Amino acid sequence: MSSQDAFKYFMRAPVELKTITASFRESGRASVEIYDFIGTSEHYSKSFGSQWTRYRNVQIDRFNGTNASYNHLLAFVQGNLSVLDRTVCLEIGSGAGRFTDYLVDLCKTVITVDPSPALFANVALGAPNLVPCRADLFDIPVCRREVDVVFCRGVIQHTANPRRAIAKLFDYVRPGGVVLFDVYPLKWYTPFVTKYWLRPLTRQVDPERFTVWAEKWVPRLLRFKKDFVNRMLPASKVGVNFSNQIVPIADFSRSTEFHAWEQIVQWSVLDTVDMYTPRYDRPLTFGAITRVLQETGARGIQANRSTFCFKAVAP
Ligand SMILES: C[S@@+](CC[C@H](N)C(=O)[O-])C[C@H]1O[C@@H](n2cnc3c(N)ncnc32)[C@H](O)[C@@H]1O
Repeated sequence: MSSQDAFKYFMRAPVELKTITASFRESGRASVEIYDFIGTSEHYSKSFGSQWTRYRNVQIDRFNGTNASYNHLLAFVQGNLSVLDRTVCLEIGSGAGRFTDYLVDLCKTVITVDPSPALFANVALGAPNLVPCRADLFDIPVCRREVDVVFCRGVIQHTANPRRAIAKLFDYVRPGGVVLFDVYPLKWYTPFVTKYWLRPLTRQVDPERFTVWAEKWVPRLLRFKKDFVNRMLPASKVGVNFSNQIVPIADFSRSTEFHAWEQIVQWSVLDTVDMYTPRYDRPLTFGAITRVLQETGARGIQANRSTFCFKAVAP
């Protein structure tokens, strides 16, 4: 999209307009403009940059031959993809673009936002209807009247103030537009989850160093967990949860999507890095999320209690 067309989506000029070359699917290399509203100031999301740049293609269905991201997208929109149909969609916190890759096909225009260097690795860069934008969820200078849908998956808990982040999503969409988001669930047992005991230490470790550690140890721990720990425990929900606390790494070995061990390992390494390196991991209770939605005046709230995926209409 030309910068003249793209500028109509913003209320102020970017700090920097970066031009990079990217190739989108089979279209060949093209120059792509990135609207950078952060500039040189430090942003806490750096850990996501190294994670998504290193594992750029792992979760992209087009590259891994699965429907894992598509199925996730369907669950996220609560079974109704038509909510995105031909819309102007603001995607916040896109990572490597596992969903951007679908959004550019479904929506009329996608404004994709990420503050981390992951933005430069987004697999959909170069799509003609994509406007890539480097900004923070709390300060996206988008013209809300232009936006039909806000799409924010896997991001809210990684901000310093998840309640304020949810409310903020409603500032970026036209009245009557749709806001889609999810949050990590805060349940009674969350304080006992091993990850939350280890994170105060692991989030201090340089993400690149942690990734090297994860690449060495996650495959071994995964094998140990599968061959010994899982066998000693029942295959019930309680047994699986117990096993996850004893060996607290992401474990895709039970997933029906993957068959090759190498793929199971890659997803497990990536998700283990995602569990331990982000600066913030602040889950919310269902009640707290619902209260924020009520305070914003959101209408038509649809919520899934097991996935903590939410859909609401902006007042
Ligand atoms: C767990 S990843 C999710 C990526 C993608 N949405 C997905 O579901 O695969 C979280 C993303 O949120 C971004 N993020 C973290 N803090 C943010 C903030 N304050 N504003 C916008 N994005 C943020 C990170 O850079 C990262 O790419």
